[in-house]
Amino acid sequence: MKKLILTGMLVLGMAATCSAANLMGDAADIFRPVPYGIPEIAGNSVTYQKIELGKALYFDPRLSKSGLISCNTCHNVGMGGDDFQETSTGHGWQQGPRNSPTVLNAVFNLAQFWDGRAKDLKEQAKGPVQASVEMNNTPEGVLKTINSMPQYIELFKQAFPDDKEPVSFDNMAAAIEVFEATLTTPDSRFDKFLRGEASALSAAEQEGLKFFMEKGCVDCHGGMNMGGEDYFSFGVVERPATSVMGNDKGRFEVTKSTDDEYVFKSPSLRNIELTAPYFHSGKVWSLKEAVQIMGSAQLGISLTGSEVDAIYTFLLTTTGTQPNVVYPVLPAATETTPHPVLK
Ligand code: HEC
Ligand code: HEC
Repeated sequence: MKKLILTGMLVLGMAATCSAANLMGDAADIFRPVPYGIPEIAGNSVTYQKIELGKALYFDPRLSKSGLISCNTCHNVGMGGDDFQETSTGHGWQQGPRNSPTVLNAVFNLAQFWDGRAKDLKEQAKGPVQASVEMNNTPEGVLKTINSMPQYIELFKQAFPDDKEPVSFDNMAAAIEVFEATLTTPDSRFDKFLRGEASALSAAEQEGLKFFMEKGCVDCHGGMNMGGEDYFSFGVVERPATSVMGNDKGRFEVTKSTDDEYVFKSPSLRNIELTAPYFHSGKVWSLKEAVQIMGSAQLGISLTGSEVDAIYTFLLTTTGTQPNVVYPVLPAATETTPHPVLK
């Protein structure tokens, strides 16, 4: 009798290992782990000097007209690369129209912004500095500020040694892009599982992963970033309530094609527990509610409570090692550095 039970347990145990192996194989066909190290950027070589300059610029509030707002204000690298706001608050306490997406792993997205209107991080970085609801500066204003600080001029020279004019708006954006490429989060438990470590995910987490794949979430949230690879209608099957949707037409504003009305880039779901509130509107604070809404809006299914719980539990395993950023000492201002303008 005892022997029988033991054999039974062994068979069960083997079945569990076997299904973990199957699941791992299926998942490995769809997802890829976040690589270790800094990814390469087409047309922008990664150097230590650019990283240091880009980091200073990323953290420097003096790039904004008010002298108060830096990239890190809305993309706090200690808070999942995000700002914990429904929609971001910028110059003069103005509220912008959209939720701030994380900068973590953004380097892997096919394009930047919810509507993909910037082709890469370099092009993207020129936007917020000038947006009136964000940093509200001008390229001339930024260059005046940078040129007023000899330490910055030196950092630009070191980062762009071959340029005749190292200090430029373009090079500012290029340096920020390189710094942002360092903001990746490898080694999540999910990635360990993808790399072959079956015990990295508990049975409940594996079940969540199974639902995530079987229900069809992976159609739009696969690949290395679990998203960020394409654009989809928000409401493929059923348009979510206006309280969630707002009246943002998404990618339509970029392409002016009616096919692109309410179309958005599927966001990366990595580190998703750290980046509430959710959706372009930032109207949903609960990750479980966001999962439920995705079921009905994108797949036309009503996920049961236990399915939502399982998917939620799985999503928590995508949190990787957060970038360990040492806060930079910023170049010293001088007599000629422009003063803050708050209004
Ligand atoms: C006032 C808040 C605010 C500031 C300051 C700000 N951002 Fe953003 N950022 C946002 C919002 C909101 C979006 C989404 C806007 C949209 O999609 O239309 C965004 C989008 C992005 C994205 C796109 C990510 C993705 O997955 O699509 C990146 C990258 C980014 N910002 C980097 C930066 C950098 C670099 C700076 C500094 C030069 C900066 N941001 C300054 C709020 C801000
Ligand atoms: C047809 C494509 C598609 C499918 C299928 C899909 N999603 Fe999404 N998902 C999106 C898009 C597009 C958004 C962005 C919507 C918006 O805010 O405008 C999104 C947003 C999300 C968000 C919010 C992320 C954030 O940073 O705000 C979560 C969480 C999410 N999806 C999880 C899921 C889960 C879980 C499933 C399966 C039950 C799923 N998705 C199925 C396309 C899809």
